[in-house]
Amino acid sequence: MKKIIIAIDGHASCGKSTLAKDLAKKLEYRYIDTGAMYRAVTLFAIENNIIKNNDIDEKLLLKLLDKINIDFRYNEKLGKSDTFLNNKNVENKIRGMEVSDLVSPISTIGFVRKKLVALQQQMGDNKAIVMDGRDIGTVVFPEAELKIFLTASAKVRAKRRFDELTAKGETVNFEDILNNVQTRDKIDSGRKIAPLRQAEDAILIDNSNIGIKEQFEKVLKLVMS
Ligand code: DC
Repeated sequence: MKKIIIAIDGHASCGKSTLAKDLAKKLEYRYIDTGAMYRAVTLFAIENNIIKNNDIDEKLLLKLLDKINIDFRYNEKLGKSDTFLNNKNVENKIRGMEVSDLVSPISTIGFVRKKLVALQQQMGDNKAIVMDGRDIGTVVFPEAELKIFLTASAKVRAKRRFDELTAKGETVNFEDILNNVQTRDKIDSGRKIAPLRQAEDAILIDNSNIGIKEQFEKVLKLVMS
């Protein structure tokens, strides 16, 4: 079968990565989580005092931009890729609430997007890739052969994220998570550069009331058609 690019965009915590990972596994494609890349930049900014009291020192971030190296390495034990920031595995750190609260403002910055989009486009050079994010079908790969736009109600998404973090042993508050999901949606959709929106040729799936398996089968059919 011809190798293609599959672009999956959508709102925060609506299961994009679960779908993308399952598809990549089934098709033997590479999976790239672009949210992890924005999260890694955010972690770098936190660790290098670029963010103080929620204020981003953009000048300093630009100055240090070349010092940010992000790559994904396959974790045999877990059967998935881990995110590395400057040769350090940051997979767990980038999923916590501190990074989640600051990642949307970081991802509104033009020079950050320029750097990450260029990297993402390079990764798609040989096709056979499933990439998820907010602007994959609109900006990164406007020519992607298959584009999916996922959504679900904010409450359903917050509940899923709550369960995920609780299962990892994090002490979290449901209202904080709901607030985070809604705030991120607002910033992601309202920003000037590459706002979250459904590409005209993307297929919309609202998974508020459908399960992971049903959604997977539905998208797999689209891939095969
Ligand atoms: O997919 P995620 O929730 O891990 O993404 C974290 C944030 O990164 C999200 O709130 C907005 C930003 N992001 C983006 O601006 N563009 C992308 N392609 C992916 C993520």
